[in-house]
This record gives sequence, structure tokens and C-alpha cells, in this order.
Amino acid sequence: MTGLRQPLFEYHQRSKHRVNHYAPGPGGLDWANQPDPFREFHGAPQIKLRLLADSLTTRYNDVRRGVLPSPRTFDLDSLAILFELSLGLSAWKSYGGTRWALRCNPSSGNLHPTEGYLVCPRLPGLTAGVYHYLSRDHVLEQRAAVDDPRWTEAFSGNGVLVGISSIYWREAWKYGMRAWRYCQHDCGHAIAAVSYAAAALGWQSRLVLSAADDVVAGLLGLDRGADFGSAETEAPDALLWVGDPDAQPDPARLLEPLSKANWRGRANQLSEAHVLWPDIDSIHLATHKPSTPERPTPGPLPLSSPVAPALDLSFAAIARQRRSAVAFDGATRITGAAFFAMLERLLPRRDTPPWNALPSAVLVHPALMVHRVDGLEPGLYMFLRDAAALPDLKRSMRDEWLWQKIGPDHLPLYLLLPYDLRDAAKLICCHQDIGADSCFALGMIARFEAALHELWLYRRLFWECGMLGHVLYLEAEAAGVRSTGIGCFFDDEMHALLGIRDQSWQSLYHFTLGGAMDDTRLSTLPPYEFQP
Ligand SMILES: Cc1cc2nc3c(=O)[nH]c(=O)nc-3n(C[C@H](O)[C@H](O)[C@H](O)COP(=O)(O)O)c2cc1C
Repeated sequence: MTGLRQPLFEYHQRSKHRVNHYAPGPGGLDWANQPDPFREFHGAPQIKLRLLADSLTTRYNDVRRGVLPSPRTFDLDSLAILFELSLGLSAWKSYGGTRWALRCNPSSGNLHPTEGYLVCPRLPGLTAGVYHYLSRDHVLEQRAAVDDPRWTEAFSGNGVLVGISSIYWREAWKYGMRAWRYCQHDCGHAIAAVSYAAAALGWQSRLVLSAADDVVAGLLGLDRGADFGSAETEAPDALLWVGDPDAQPDPARLLEPLSKANWRGRANQLSEAHVLWPDIDSIHLATHKPSTPERPTPGPLPLSSPVAPALDLSFAAIARQRRSAVAFDGATRITGAAFFAMLERLLPRRDTPPWNALPSAVLVHPALMVHRVDGLEPGLYMFLRDAAALPDLKRSMRDEWLWQKIGPDHLPLYLLLPYDLRDAAKLICCHQDIGADSCFALGMIARFEAALHELWLYRRLFWECGMLGHVLYLEAEAAGVRSTGIGCFFDDEMHALLGIRDQSWQSLYHFTLGGAMDDTRLSTLPPYEFQP
């Protein structure tokens, strides 16, 4: 893998947006080849899921503070809720005769490269096997039915595996080379979305970080060339164990019984013609994940009583009303208490979603450009999700920064510079107004060079960023404001602002939060027309 270090760093540099030079893209949108947003497997038996999310009474505030309800039984109906509130549709929008779906999980450009799978033992209402989730119809497509005692043995504990894959082409169609980064962000959002929905059902979730990509591909049937034919391939991303944390199965042990399974379905082709992006192929290759030892790093337990958000909504309501703001009013302010409560939710907490899903060291810390937070001077702030990162960050940034501790004692929040950074935030967000019109904008500063001792960890850095973004999306809704993920940012402008001169730290994802202005030209329709 060492020989692939160079291509990784080259990809990272070349996929940066620069003020005078955006990362290589298609240069226009080829509407005739716009990818179908829904993957389906023709010929696979479909298991219709009921729309039951409204029956789930769990409050969002309980989920966010790790107070989970009694675990639901794993059956078809509880899994229906898991998918409905994580990867399911949340609405249809329409304008001028065009209709497009929104989902509980966000996606850069609403292109949704992420596909979801279920790998499960025999459960009430469900045969043992592998399923693909088709969000458009809220159905599970049965890819493989397994009837083998070794499968049942491997699933000795209570729980299921959720698989995540990416169809790079969906993003590359619009964003070209940088698209691969967005696929990883989206994967992080999807991991968080599943982790939150699982928690609302009383289930813990954890990434199976030991699994090799080849195992994930084998388990989800992504390596079955004949089933894909000329359809776009799916890259294996991650497996999430949802269930009893001590009973996680070894995914490699599932492969043998799966080899005898009866596979069904052929993948649909999403576009007739494709543009090749060799840079994406090379970064995919460079970050291929081998099998690695399981080495979970448990985080601290949740704090006892974080401040409740402004709105006391059910988790189902929050998950489905989550939206990206397209414009902010440039006037809304949030209170200092609301701001600190949001930051607190970014701290890793064992047993609390979504951080229970990522049992490894914290590598990403937000650098905030605060514009409109009561009690806080506008300016540049650094929030350390792991206080131990302080010396390294100080060393890597401008000597002039104040590093003045601000806010509640338990939050490692530091004021670096009091200054009106609205113009800078807008510029850094590729001139997008939402950078300046927000209550705050932030860049996610990842430990970079030193963290990439295994190259696949490059992907994991983006996932952590996507998970951070997902927390902010939900927290914003509960606080009565709105968020937007920002994939389009000028990387090195952010580094220049902070004074980062090398690759020790890199900004990998940006975010904004503020008072949203809705686009009144759009109509909103319910996510699923049919009734259970
Ligand atoms: C990784 C990522 C990057 C994004 N980048 C931008 C961006 O640069 N500008 C923007 O206005 N929205 C951005 N968005 C928001 C998406 O456009 C939005 O999620 C998508 O249209 C779906 O809408 P929804 O979030 O309301 O479901 C981004 C979202 C994600 C997940």
C-alpha cells in the first residue's frame, strides 16, 4: 500500500477547489445521462415494508442524550422503521413539472450515491439472507436467501448487519473528480442516520471496522459481476452491526454459507453513457481496505443532563423534517446556551448515537466562524472534540491566535480571533451566501498526514465529518433553525485563514447553520403515497 500513498496525496491536492481553479469536473450537466436516483434489482423478490414511523414515540431529546427505550424485537416491522427513518424518503418536492425525492439522509447535490443493505438471520417476517433497500418504494429486495446452519451460528446474538455501498457515478456525473469525497461524506451521514434510527428503537450500533472491503463486497453481492452486467458498480463502504454490542458476528464467517445461496435480481443501469474518471478509480484503489484487527477505543459515557433543545419533538419528526437550507435570512441569532448544547453533542460519547457507531479515536475538530450567537463575540473559534489535540493544533496554526478558553468548563472551546468573518466565510464556501448569512459556519479540521498510516483511513476521516454534519442537521432542527452541509469550499483558503501550512491538518467538510428562508416556489408532497 505504501506505493499508493503518493496517488492518495495527489488526489487530495488535485480534488481541492481553488479560488481560480475548481477541481476537474464535467464542465456542464449532461441531462440525457442523468443517473437514475434509485437502484433496483430486477427480478429480486420484494418484501413490502409497512410505514410505521409514526408509531414510534421516542423523543429526539432522549436519543441525543443516550436515554434509549427498551430494545424492540428484531422483526420485519421494527426493521421497516429503521430504514424508513434513516435511508427512507422524507418528502417529494416539485417545481415546474419536475419532481424529486428527498430522503432522511442528505446527499451532495441530492444525488444519493449511497445504497443500503440488510444482512440478517431468520427473523419474524423475514427469511435469512441479504436484502437491498429500495427507498423509493420502501421495500426490501431479496438478493440472497440463505438456508445454512453456519449462517445462523454466525448470527448467534441479537441483531442485524446494515451494509452501505456507494455508486460513484451518481456523484461523478455532476461533480467529477471531487465526487469521491462527497460519496464518503454521504456515507458518514448514512452511518449516523442509521445509528440514530437504531437508537430510537432501543438498539446500539457499531461500525465493523475490521471487515475488509472484499468481505463487505462479497456479503452484499457487489462483486457479482453477472448481476451487474453493464450497470454501474457499487463500491463497498461499511458494515454497521445493529444490536447487542457483545454479539457482533464475524462477517468473514458469513461468506462461506453465502456462497451456496440462491442470489436473485439484476441491477438496473442508471445512465446510458458514462464519463470515466480515472482519478476516482485510483483513489478507490489506493484506499482499498484490507482486513484489520478489531481495536475499538471506547469514548467517555454521556454527560448526565445536556440542555434540552428548544423544540421537544419526536425522533421520527426530526428525522423526517431534516432539510438543507438553501438560503439563510442573515438575521436569525441563536442563544449561547443553544450553541453550547450543539457543540456538546459533537463530543464522542459511548452508547450515544451517532458516536457509538464509531468506536475509534477522534480525528476531526470544528473551526468555527461565529457570526450570530448571543453572548459570543463574532470571530474564529476552535472546538476540540479531544482536548489532547490542543498542543498539535497550536503548533500547526498561526502563532498569533489567542487560544482563549470560552464557554462552559467542560467544552474545549477556544476563541482564536475576535473579528467579523462573514466575508471570509462566504469566500471559503465557494462564494455561497449561506457562509455569511448563517449564525455560524465551520470547517472540519482533520488530523491528516499522521492519521493516514493506513490509507483506507482517508475514507474514515470523511465519514467522521459526515457524522458530525449529521449531528448538526438534527440539532439545528431541534433548535428551530436549519443547517446545510458544504462540500463546495476552497480548501486552502480555510487553511490560510487558520495558518495551516502543511498537511498535518486538512479541512475536509464545511457546514453552516442559521435561520432558513424557504423557496416558496416549490411544492412539497408526502414521501409515500400508498398506505400500509
Ligand atoms: C456532502 C454534502 C455536501 C453538500 N454541499 C452543499 C453545498 O456546497 N452547497 C449547498 O447549498 N448544499 C450542499 N449540500 C446540501 C445538499 O444539496 C442537500 O443535502 C440535498 O440537496 C438534499 O436536500 P436535503 O438535505 O434537504 O434532503 C451538501 C450536502 C452534503 C451531504
